[in-house]
Amino acid sequence: MTEKANIIVIGTGGTIAGQGKAANNTSAYECSVRGIGDILSTIPHACALANLRTEQLLQNGSENFSNEHLLAIGKRVSTLLAQHDVDGAVIAHGTDTIEETAYFLHLTLKSSKPVVVVGSMRPPSAMSSDAALNLYDAIAVAAHPSSVGLGTLVFANDEIHTARDVAKSSSFKIEAFRSPYGPLGYVIEGQPRYYRHPSRAHTLATPWSIETLGPLPQVDIVYAYGALEPEAVSAITARAQGLIYAGTGNGNVAAHLIEPLRDAVRRGVHVVRASRTGSGIVLRNGAQPDDAYGWLTVEDQIPSKARILLMLALTQARDLQALQAVFERY
Ligand code: DGL
Repeated sequence: MTEKANIIVIGTGGTIAGQGKAANNTSAYECSVRGIGDILSTIPHACALANLRTEQLLQNGSENFSNEHLLAIGKRVSTLLAQHDVDGAVIAHGTDTIEETAYFLHLTLKSSKPVVVVGSMRPPSAMSSDAALNLYDAIAVAAHPSSVGLGTLVFANDEIHTARDVAKSSSFKIEAFRSPYGPLGYVIEGQPRYYRHPSRAHTLATPWSIETLGPLPQVDIVYAYGALEPEAVSAITARAQGLIYAGTGNGNVAAHLIEPLRDAVRRGVHVVRASRTGSGIVLRNGAQPDDAYGWLTVEDQIPSKARILLMLALTQARDLQALQAVFERY
């Protein structure tokens, strides 16, 4: 028999730490109230998967998470992973912004130890809650040698996703998490099975280290539609260093918004054309002459991921070519 892995289980709040009044409260309940030790005590079988230790890092809904929260989570996880008696980490997290926190960790942690971010769509108190099984399976993933070196993973509803691709795609269904190219694998009976690996650079192969990151630059997102007023674009770019423009279709920009966006570039704002469709590539110099306007384009990153990536990119580069290369590489 091989030795069990030592896994740290970190609580940050969310539905997985929620409590409803009655078992039929699947969507109306209080979030972020139960401690991680308490939640873990409901799945005693997890002790067979790994030696477990808990830490309550935050107790907050993930819709509140600022850049400072991201940095605090990343720095603490990094410190824990550096300990010789920690083989991996599970982070229990609200599902609303799990895709952002996980991608941030994926790009900035300097460790090959498994990190699995997990949430639930129903609180532990609800009928057919996914909380206990998701947490159990996430521990199984973090403890398994086949998860080493894959970067940050997100576990939900039987599926192992790479942090790069996964996004929340339903406001209430158990089946809420989707990766455009499919999950990396599944867990069945506490046993992870992988069918593919992340192909883009992450963790040890990126230039960003959580250990040295300071305050992150302000990058905002604007959701496009034909009636969007130029003043709204000017207001949102007034303080930002970067703007993710979640354009229609292939990152299209309405004619009356071209000048406000070009003006933002003249004021030093890095404008990135993305798509509000939720998947697909935005073709550089396709719908708009990006080179002529000094605009960047995402490759296939959805706006929430593009914001994380541009914040990190701007900590090291300002040059248009270098920034564009980041979207092609990560
Ligand atoms: N308050 C939301 C959050 O923490 C709850 C959503 C969830 O965890 O499913 O993201």
